[in-house]
Amino acid sequence: MSSDRPRPRFIPPADVLPRPAPGEEPIVWFEMPGGLQVGLRPIHPDDRQALMEGFQALSEESRYHRFLSPMPRLSDRQARYLTELDQIDHFAWGIGIRGDAGAIEGIGVARYVRDTADRTTAEVAVVITDPYHGLGLGTLAVQALAVVAATRGIEVLTGYLLGDNKPMVRIFQGMGATFTHAGPGLVRAEAVLQDDAPGTLGEEACAELIRVAGRASHPSAPRSDDPDQRG
Ligand SMILES: CC(C)(COP(=O)(O)OP(=O)(O)OC[C@H]1O[C@@H](n2cnc3c(N)ncnc32)[C@H](O)[C@@H]1OP(=O)(O)O)[C@@H](O)C(=O)NCCC(=O)NCCS
Repeated sequence: MSSDRPRPRFIPPADVLPRPAPGEEPIVWFEMPGGLQVGLRPIHPDDRQALMEGFQALSEESRYHRFLSPMPRLSDRQARYLTELDQIDHFAWGIGIRGDAGAIEGIGVARYVRDTADRTTAEVAVVITDPYHGLGLGTLAVQALAVVAATRGIEVLTGYLLGDNKPMVRIFQGMGATFTHAGPGLVRAEAVLQDDAPGTLGEEACAELIRVAGRASHPSAPRSDDPDQRG
């Protein structure tokens, strides 16, 4: 993933302030070049309500880019699909910032869904809430996703995007993707995962992302291969 843009700085767990309370779920923190601190943790079923609220807060354009069709609302079934993950074949990072009174406020989600026919391939979908676009968060989220995907035997990340979705095209270009026409206005990106993830985010960050993602995986959770809910 090559870009001259300044990189996020990984904040080692020992340096995270305020210190997490005992038993609090682990979050991997980064400081963005502009100083914004963002945390990544796996999405879980308790996030359903927050996800639905976050969806409602998205602009129409962001919804359209994310779901490739007009989406006035998210159904309960869709919200369950997007939050009840097995964390192996369907994994998602929730991206948050510390809001007022220290509570974490979700500002994005990045997920992969493994292809049922080719288990070495997974489709990526990412969304960042509109006020936080252009800060490098989409790039960070996809890089963090790639780190986890690689540990789950995934070798290729794909994405369906509108051809005019410049930030997402840039993110895939940064991964050395190839692009093919996939329908009117639609492009399929395909990126072979490289071994340079540690070089991009740093060895320490990758190890922490893998550790935190690994804690979330529990294969007894429902499998996420609902063809109606791609991405
Ligand atoms: C696509 C999306 C996730 C990108 O997230 P983001 O945090 O805004 O993107 P980043 O800040 O990491 O920028 C990614 C690249 O796009 C570039 N970029 C950002 N906004 C841009 C714009 N409006 N025009 C052109 N390039 C842009 C950045 O410079 C960066 O390129 P670089 O690494 O070469 O500098 C975000 O725009 C979004 O949520 N969109 C709606 C949902 C969506 O489109 N999802 C993708 C389909 S699954």
